Amino acid sequence: MSIRNLDDLLAEGVSGRRVLVRADLNVPLDKQSGAITDDGRIRAVLPTLSALVQAGAKVVVCSHLGRPKGTPDPQFSLRPVADRLGELLGAPVRFATDTVGDSARSTVDALADGEVALLENLRFNAGETSKDDAERGAFADQLAAFGEAYVDDAFGAVHRKHASVYDVPARLPHVAGRLVLREVEVLSTLTGDPERPYVVVLGGSKVSDKLAVIEALLPKVDRLLIGGGMCFTFLKAQGHEVGSSLLEEEMVETCRNLLERSEGKILLPVDVVAADAFAPDAAHDTVRADGIPTKRVGLDIGPETVAGFAAALKGARTIFWNGPMGVFEMAPFAHGTRGVAEAIASSGAFTVVGGGDSAAAVRALGLDESAFGHISTGGGASLEYLEGKTLPGIAALEK
Ligand code: 3PG
Ligand code: MG
Repeated sequence: MSIRNLDDLLAEGVSGRRVLVRADLNVPLDKQSGAITDDGRIRAVLPTLSALVQAGAKVVVCSHLGRPKGTPDPQFSLRPVADRLGELLGAPVRFATDTVGDSARSTVDALADGEVALLENLRFNAGETSKDDAERGAFADQLAAFGEAYVDDAFGAVHRKHASVYDVPARLPHVAGRLVLREVEVLSTLTGDPERPYVVVLGGSKVSDKLAVIEALLPKVDRLLIGGGMCFTFLKAQGHEVGSSLLEEEMVETCRNLLERSEGKILLPVDVVAADAFAPDAAHDTVRADGIPTKRVGLDIGPETVAGFAAALKGARTIFWNGPMGVFEMAPFAHGTRGVAEAIASSGAFTVVGGGDSAAAVRALGLDESAFGHISTGGGASLEYLEGKTLPGIAALEK
């Protein structure tokens, strides 16, 4: 891509210079304890941060966490992330208790060469996500004052037109970090000329979220396997009863239309694990996908479907997977996601896992991450990339 990257910046020399790094440290937290449940996104940004530390930069990291409403909200504090980042870097990370206020200024001022600071949650400030250019710009001015150069390594947020992603690079010399570079390299092979057969597996709860990517991918793929909560709207579109399963009624017609145009490329479940309730201890069994009993809710794809999907994945040369096949957080309904993930991992294809949930599923199920070619840190971002949309964060780097 026609974007300067971290090596270009390092070649100029960064020793003693303040470098502002936008990272996506939006990690899942345990609701009760507030502990980080998956630190994948923190680890993903280490190559960029370590390189800057080694080169003697004063590294100022910023990120969002969750969706606070433009004002400080303790449950979304980045403090636990600063601690974890320090552990992973092997050196303490200075934490600023605000984003652009007194604490941020004194923290940045105190940085020695090769030290790292993390600013408090960007979204504690209304300017970060504002739709008003001037309001975003004013916040971007304050952020930009903390750096002499800007590195975007927040792939998970490049689809957001936010101050730290879109407006700061207009104010500072800017480069793509190692993670953003790698993500774009990998995903561009999928939009370019992937090796065939090219098989895409989509899951997750909502068809409406995936519609644009299905439209964009259908002409490119050889097979499109659909599981997860979104499969029920497709099953309904085929005229089947789906019981109390997740259904987007207003999308049924669209799904019917997609199935008609899909030239038989779309593969849907033939059996489903149906339960009495949405609960880990609910009574459940496997039923045919063409007649889910009323009052039963489909929470996973069934074993016959897993076998069928595995057969379709065998022999693939390129695989993209986004979205779990069932409610994998509940053990009885994790078999579908596990089975499909294992089939992907052992396929021998070049495999890309896209999306926060599927990446978290890989780790939560204890699967070997290195068995996958690339695990994207971006959910919405990787889908929008594959849709061919212009991503504000990438566009800003290209300027
Ligand atoms: C994500 O988790 O998808 C990214 O961190 C972006 O977060 P957002 O969807 O709240 O903008
Ligand atoms: Mg998101």
